[in-house]
Amino acid sequence: MTDFTHIRCEEFPWTAEAVYLNAAGIGPLPERTRRAVEEFTRLRAAPHRLPDRTLFATLAESRRLAARLINAEPEEIALATNTSYGINLAARSLPLERGDLVLASDREFPANVYPWMALAERGIGLELAPTTPDGWPDEDFLVERIADPRVRVLAVSLTQFSNSYTVNLARLSAAARATGTFLVVDAIQALGQMPVDVRATPVDLLACGAQKWLLSPWGSGFVYVRRELLRALPPADVGWLAYEGTDDFTRLTRYEPTLRSDGRRFELVTLPFQDFAGMNASVGLLLELGIETIRRHLAEVTAPVLEWADRRGVRLASPRGPRGSAILCVELPDVGTAYRKLREAGVFATVREGSIRLSPHLYNTPEELARVAAVLDGAL
Ligand SMILES: Cc1ncc(COP(=O)(O)O)c(C=O)c1O
Repeated sequence: MTDFTHIRCEEFPWTAEAVYLNAAGIGPLPERTRRAVEEFTRLRAAPHRLPDRTLFATLAESRRLAARLINAEPEEIALATNTSYGINLAARSLPLERGDLVLASDREFPANVYPWMALAERGIGLELAPTTPDGWPDEDFLVERIADPRVRVLAVSLTQFSNSYTVNLARLSAAARATGTFLVVDAIQALGQMPVDVRATPVDLLACGAQKWLLSPWGSGFVYVRRELLRALPPADVGWLAYEGTDDFTRLTRYEPTLRSDGRRFELVTLPFQDFAGMNASVGLLLELGIETIRRHLAEVTAPVLEWADRRGVRLASPRGPRGSAILCVELPDVGTAYRKLREAGVFATVREGSIRLSPHLYNTPEELARVAAVLDGAL
């Protein structure tokens, strides 16, 4: 059995003084990650201690771990400094033409909207699909709408930032395959809290910053591009290591003509090595624990708030069951007061789109969430 209590004490010692419920905002760094970044930075201070092979082995390990996380191959991974890089790559590199449409759901996080909006100057439209009365992506509508051949891209967050709705990826994947629509997924609110398998549920491109549920430094993240699409997709921004043979620093001005056939063709070097060293430590920890084990732990952690909401007739903006996640969005008559009371009680949550957003991770406990429910009860 996984000893989450031990990990909480060892890796997140500050949990003794605060109830942190904002993994959906900023994921805390495990102690091993803080040490890894510090150690890397210590070496960096005297760069002769950091040989090139250490630098590039660090990035290779990041690609390997990112691939394991989603059941992809390391060759399908490009490291990136945020989610936006991947969404922009999709928007600018997919073969879209004047008159084409991109379909996204209304209320998506702006990182998954603006890069598509920016295509207007090329005559490519963005259609924002109305959400359901609950404010969730309307999957029936999305599936119906991609049958229109003008809709060339379906862009979705796997898990919504403001209401936790988690799309049925298997359904959207099958529908997109059937219509030949590109499926682009923003996975930043999902990866690390739930299993994702791009072999079982194919997507064309998946973008993920590692700074939230992957508990990694700002400046780390990655893009997955489906193998069959890799070679067809030109990089939107061209890095100097994107070409075959450019690892050989003795021949830099040969200006090799052939783009790499793997994900490195999309990498915009120089990347923040120390942050990827940190990401390796964090993703290593998550994989050691097992993402499915973390998901089950989170179901136990969130249960007290769900029970309280049921008992007191409090509405959640976030779905229950398979369309939900560990993010709970609580609707209260006076969100401001509730937020203040939480802070007074040492609870760090946040407010998004009018709800209190609670986003616990592996270091939280059911007891903490029971306390949170009691505080929220006092704000009814
Ligand atoms: C769904 C979603 N996408 C993207 C981001 C952040 O994008 P980036 O990693 O480019 O800062 C957030 C977080 O704030 C988010 O909730």
